[in-house]
Amino acid sequence: MKDLTPNKADLDPIEIASIDEIRAKQLERMKWSVRHAYDNVPMYKQRFDEAGVHPDDLQSLSDLAKFPFTYKNDLRDNYPFGLFAVPREQIIRLHASSGTTGKATVVGYTANDINNWADLLARSLRASGLRKGDMVHNAYGYGLFTGGLGAHYGIERLGATVVPMGGGQTEKQVGLINDFKPDGIMVTPSYMLNILEQFHKMGLDPRESSLSVGVFGAEPWTNAMRLEVEQAFDMHAVDIYGLSEIMGPGVANECVETKDGLHVWEDHFYPEVIDPETGEVLPDGEMGELVFTTLTKEGLPMIRYRTRDLTRLLPGTARSLRRMEKITGRSDDMIILRGVNVFPTQIEEQLMATGGLAPHFQIELYKSGRMDAMRVFVEANPDAADELSKTAAARMLSKRIKDIVGVSTEIIVGDPGEVARSEGKAKRVVDNRDKE
Ligand code: DLL
Repeated sequence: MKDLTPNKADLDPIEIASIDEIRAKQLERMKWSVRHAYDNVPMYKQRFDEAGVHPDDLQSLSDLAKFPFTYKNDLRDNYPFGLFAVPREQIIRLHASSGTTGKATVVGYTANDINNWADLLARSLRASGLRKGDMVHNAYGYGLFTGGLGAHYGIERLGATVVPMGGGQTEKQVGLINDFKPDGIMVTPSYMLNILEQFHKMGLDPRESSLSVGVFGAEPWTNAMRLEVEQAFDMHAVDIYGLSEIMGPGVANECVETKDGLHVWEDHFYPEVIDPETGEVLPDGEMGELVFTTLTKEGLPMIRYRTRDLTRLLPGTARSLRRMEKITGRSDDMIILRGVNVFPTQIEEQLMATGGLAPHFQIELYKSGRMDAMRVFVEANPDAADELSKTAAARMLSKRIKDIVGVSTEIIVGDPGEVARSEGKAKRVVDNRDKE
């Protein structure tokens, strides 16, 4: 793999600033943001008043802990534009998440917000090893999802050429990659596996492709998956994180030279990790729920937004800004089986370590009597699809999950192609517990 370490001279000064400088900038911006929310969004005024806190009470960064949390339901309750802090006419873009249940959550951006987003996405791409003059194939979905357009503006801002492909039409994707020869690809990791398969179907060697880096996010993926994709394509695989409520992709990003967790762009987003049960702020290094406060957002300021993503904060390395560890999972995706907490990423890790199986999987939850039970659908690699190999692989994976994760599961090994493929975010868990 190529050394893609960016030149120090190309970084934003804040990326290599001293911790004191970073904290000072955060405090100044946080004071503005908390006041902006209080003065312009009725919900924040009411919540702060009820909690007996006022923007003037924010004198240090740790004072933020006195302020109430904001939840996804607050966006739903104020559907569609109730949390916007500027008149709708100043919002130049809307995005929305479809959500599996209930109303969509709608987010809005002023011209300055869109400008900052493009800057931060460009910073993320630079951290990923891309630079001005490169070409980037963008396979994140365009439309209401923030992935496609968010990445698009960032690629342009970097000064690179964007191929605005979007999701789906996998054969066409591979054809374009083969013809245009992009340096980078932006796509969900699960869809990248689909693209990999298509390379093989078309008789193309992915290691011979022009791609030198993939910027993967929008869903949890493991370091084991990183290795698989890096080896398959002979390219770097870097993690990008974000969520619509806070901005979209580009809230945090890994650096290609270290790949040791994602640097949070702390000049625009203040992270906290809390105990999800008690709401108490945890010291850096401890695992809990990630909470963000936006520091510069005009259209939709978010104060102490509960992401439900589980991770921990770590000191900076390649950049001064703190890192968040690769996300283990969302609290909503946590499966509790006979008292043991299980995340789909833990199943992914064991799957990747088991020979003879392809990297695609889906988990089904069902009732066995009164108890919850779990089945994992996986599939054989084409060169190990005979019954004997399939039985051996099932036994091996089941044992690994029992020994390492601590739960009993039924493993169903299908033929190549049997597990549902994703074109965006993979659906890892199907819950049939109320169906049997
Ligand atoms: O998924 C934004 C995005 C687009 C990020 C493209 C990266 C690349 P939402 O649809 O609002 O926004 O979903 C946000 O996705 O709270 C996490 O649970 C999950 N997520 C996003 N990035 C990662 C990641 C976009 N790198 C939700 N690792 C978040 C793990 C991620 N989970």
